[in-house]
Amino acid sequence: MKPPRVVPARERRNTAAPMWDDPGAAAHRDAVRARVRRALDPPRDARDGMYRWLAFHLGWVDAGGAPVDGRAGKGVRPLVSLMACAAVGADPAQAHGVAAAVEMTHEFSLIHDDIEDGDTERRGRATLWTVAGVPHAINAGDALFSLARRQLTEAPPELPSRVALDLIRRYDTACLRLAEGQYLDIAFESAERVRLADYQLMILGKTGALLGAAAGMGARAGGASTADSDRLTRFGESVGVAFQMQDDVLGIWGDPDVTGKSAGNDLIRRKKSLPVVLAMADETLGPDLVATYARTHPLAPEEAAGWAARIAEAGHRETCTRLAHAAADAALEALDGLDLVPGPRAALAALARFAVDREH
Ligand code: IPE
Ligand code: IPE
Ligand code: MG
Ligand code: MG
Repeated sequence: MKPPRVVPARERRNTAAPMWDDPGAAAHRDAVRARVRRALDPPRDARDGMYRWLAFHLGWVDAGGAPVDGRAGKGVRPLVSLMACAAVGADPAQAHGVAAAVEMTHEFSLIHDDIEDGDTERRGRATLWTVAGVPHAINAGDALFSLARRQLTEAPPELPSRVALDLIRRYDTACLRLAEGQYLDIAFESAERVRLADYQLMILGKTGALLGAAAGMGARAGGASTADSDRLTRFGESVGVAFQMQDDVLGIWGDPDVTGKSAGNDLIRRKKSLPVVLAMADETLGPDLVATYARTHPLAPEEAAGWAARIAEAGHRETCTRLAHAAADAALEALDGLDLVPGPRAALAALARFAVDREH
C-alpha cells in the first residue's frame, strides 16, 4: 500500500476530525497501542526476560509472564499528539509514530521514577523494581527509552527528512528537560525548603516537557509550521504543569483505590510537592513542617495523615487547585491565535480541563 502523502495543514481543513471519545479517535488509539505492542515484541534471537519485564510494567503479563488484563495508563500523551495533529488539519495517522514514542517514553520515565521515588505501587500493581530488582528495572527502562526514540526514525517514513530531524530535536530536548526536572525534584528532597518559582520550574521539566513535546510533535508531524508547533508545545507544557499540580493534590488527598498509588506516600517520603511548598511558606504551619521534614526518617502514616489534614485546613489544598486551574487557563491561551480545526481544538481544551478535574 502506498503511504499517505504528507499534506500541508490547510489543504485538509474540512477533514472530519476525530473527537476525544468518538470511534475515529478510538481507532487511532488502538493503532498506537498495536504499534507499541509490535515495538515490544521480543526479537527472535533475544532472550525474552527483559521484554517480559517491560510487558509486566505495561500490565500485559503478571510477574511470572502469564497474560493478564492489567490496568493501563490513561494514555493522555499519545492522545494529545493525535489531537494536535488533527487540530492542524492533518490525518492523525501521521502522528502514530510520535504518539507511540511519547507514550513509551512516559512509561520508561515511570519505571525509573518509581526507583528514584522508592514507590512500590503504580496503577494498583507492584512497581517493576520491586519484582525484577533495581538493576533489571533500570536496564529495562533504558531499553524502552531506546525503543521509544526508534519510533521516530522508523515511521512515518513518508515524512520529509527536515521534519523528521525536527521531531528528533524536539524529542531529545524534551527528554533532557525531563531529566533536569527529575534532578531538581530529587535535589529538592534534601533542600530545607523550596520556593514556589523553583517548584514550578521543576514540574515544567519533569512533566511539562514531555506533554509539550507530545503536542508540538503531533502538530509538526501533521505538517504544522515550526512556529505553530511551538505554540502547541506551550499548550502541552501548561497542561503538564496543571496535570502535575493535580497529581500532587492526589498524592496527598487522592483515594488510593482510584489513583492506584500508595496513600500518603508523598508526605511519608517527605516529598516537597506543591501542598508542602505552600505550607512551608505559611507562617503558622511552616516552621513545624520544616522541622518535621528536616528529620532523616520517613513520617509515620498517622503523622502524614495529620499533616494532610492540617495543610488542607490551612487552605493550601484550595490554593493548589487554583494554581492548577491557572495553568490550564494558560494552556487555553496558548491555543488562541492558532487556526485550528474546531473539533480537535475543543478536545484539546477538554483535555486541559481534565488535567485539573481528574481523580486518577
Ligand atoms: C503520572 O502520569 C506521572 C506524572 C507525570 C504525574 P500519568 O497520570 O499520565 O500516568 P498514567 O500513564 O496515566 O498511569
Ligand atoms: C512523575 O513525577 C514525573 C515523571 C515520571 C517524570 P512523580 O514522581 O511526581 O509522579 P508519580 O506520582 O510517581 O506518578
Ligand atoms: Mg513518582
Ligand atoms: Mg518522582
